[in-house]
Amino acid sequence: MTVTRTFSIIKPDATRRNLTGAVTKILEDGGLRVVASKRIHMTRAQAEGFYGVHKERPFFGELVDFMISEPVVVQVLEGENAVLRNRELMGATNPSEADEGTIRKTHALSIGENSVHGSDSDENAAIEIAFFFNEDEIVG
Ligand code: CMP
Repeated sequence: MTVTRTFSIIKPDATRRNLTGAVTKILEDGGLRVVASKRIHMTRAQAEGFYGVHKERPFFGELVDFMISEPVVVQVLEGENAVLRNRELMGATNPSEADEGTIRKTHALSIGENSVHGSDSDENAAIEIAFFFNEDEIVG
């Protein structure tokens, strides 16, 4: 058994609709433990830095505007193969392609307003966790 960590964002479309608890319940019921959590209003600089890998994409401006439009909840999740497990629980990026019971199938509005972000690898999870959390804010 390999217990690892991943990084999650509950996005503005979900916080706006008061779905922080509903999303977190799917994560917890799915075997992940929230070991750090804070509600923040991202700055433009934070959003542009966090999503820097997408800066050449046509949707970059829309993505940044959306992520700073309202508060988000950033979380560190811990569990067995946390990156993969979280991605299973989130479902496909486009909610119309997501499996039944996943967060995005249940709650997302569109490919942009897709309720959650999750790291795509252990390496990126470490980078993304460090982007928003100090080690002393993570209590496993
Ligand atoms: P996320 O996992 O946060 O990583 C990058 C985000 O870009 C992705 O989720 C989507 O919300 C967003 N995204 C991807 N494709 C599009 C698109 N075609 N239009 C708008 N946003 C997109």
